[in-house]
Amino acid sequence: MRISVVGAGYVGLVTGACLAKLGNEVTLIDIDEKRVEEVNNKISPICEEGLGELLNSAHIEASSNFQKITDSEVIFICVGTPCADGEFILLEQVEKASKEVGQVLRAKRGYCVVCVKSTVVPGATEEIIIPALEESGRKAGKDFGICMSPEFLREGRAVYDFMNPARIIVGEYDGRSGSILLKLYRSFNAPILRTNLKTAEMIKLASNTFLAAKISLINEIGNICKHLGIDVYEVAEGMGLDERIGSKFLNAGVGFGGSCLPKDLMMLIGSAKKVGYAPQILEQVLNLNEAQALRLVELLRKNLPLKGAAIGVLGLAFKPGTDDIRESRAIKIVEALLQEGAAVKAYDPIAVENFKKLFPQIEYGTKEEVLNSDAVLIITEWDEFNELNYKGKIVIDGRRIPRAREARIYEGICW
Ligand code: UGA
Repeated sequence: MRISVVGAGYVGLVTGACLAKLGNEVTLIDIDEKRVEEVNNKISPICEEGLGELLNSAHIEASSNFQKITDSEVIFICVGTPCADGEFILLEQVEKASKEVGQVLRAKRGYCVVCVKSTVVPGATEEIIIPALEESGRKAGKDFGICMSPEFLREGRAVYDFMNPARIIVGEYDGRSGSILLKLYRSFNAPILRTNLKTAEMIKLASNTFLAAKISLINEIGNICKHLGIDVYEVAEGMGLDERIGSKFLNAGVGFGGSCLPKDLMMLIGSAKKVGYAPQILEQVLNLNEAQALRLVELLRKNLPLKGAAIGVLGLAFKPGTDDIRESRAIKIVEALLQEGAAVKAYDPIAVENFKKLFPQIEYGTKEEVLNSDAVLIITEWDEFNELNYKGKIVIDGRRIPRAREARIYEGICW
């Protein structure tokens, strides 16, 4: 099929590259000229396993000109939905992109499907995206079809997740568009659920919210276990044997970050409040996560006075396998350390350049140099941190690195 993807971010790049690999003709549209050039030169603009090879081998063209997509049969909208001031979710990019796509539809003969993949609040496709598309004078469900099909891609594993989906959710405005989309996904062996648009939007937010809640819950249980002298990892192992609970996402630690879990929680909280419902569990999941990061600093303070101390930080990415620092727990922790008057030296195998943009004032060094600080905090569970020699050090561990236990003074956040 002839496919176009608007927005060459994580979701757009992976969607475009994977669909091209599956034999479709793909055009990627992005307003960022540098990104367009990189894709056309077969360079992956993001650090994502397998994406570079896909861009190299599959036929994919990038452009900043919407006219390039006039003959597409399916147009995916994958632009970002950023968070402003930690509160508002901006749908401006989605609205703008929809208007541009609308202009393309105006000139288009025949039916095509617009499919929203950006994560949006429930109701946004109907209330914001369809009206923006219809400014073209074309009617949804008649002149063009519209679907909302959320992505469940983990950063660092996004190509694998796209090619091996656990489920396919197709929210459809009109049945015809849902059926066309499913033709595109026919090679996948995954359960399919067809819903209306709002339900698909909610499935995405509810899934990420559930994962976030699972993490905050095990972190809280971990905090209690630490007081009671019980190993929360053994507790989690026992809990996970119950199929209803499952063993995944039960790693207690310093909390969740990334561009999705915190933002999706906020989106759902915002949606609830808008209709006059005050969510209780959801607010607490977020509050607990914020407190958990500061808990690591509190534990450190118990072991040494922070003013004037040299504190090493191991791990800046929000999780291993990525250079992404969005909502990384390291941000909150470094802020708190600086406020307390500590001198910070940090290391991460790939996220240093991104972190420097936020914190140019701190020092960066090799992991051995960072280890030579008065005390060390572990914030991301990179495998290489298990190869360091912690003997003689003070270590406060937010991610359960086995070898760190050899430190002179060792304390785990929940153990
Ligand atoms: C998440 C979801 O897992 C994907 O299914 C979803 O598609 C994606 O968001 C999205 O909405 O696009 P991602 O943000 O890449 O994926 O990260 P996760 O692997 O879910 O990890 C999120 C955070 O939770 C990380 O900071 C990680 O360290 C933390 N975490 C995870 C824990 O603290 N404990 C755990 O047991 C698991």
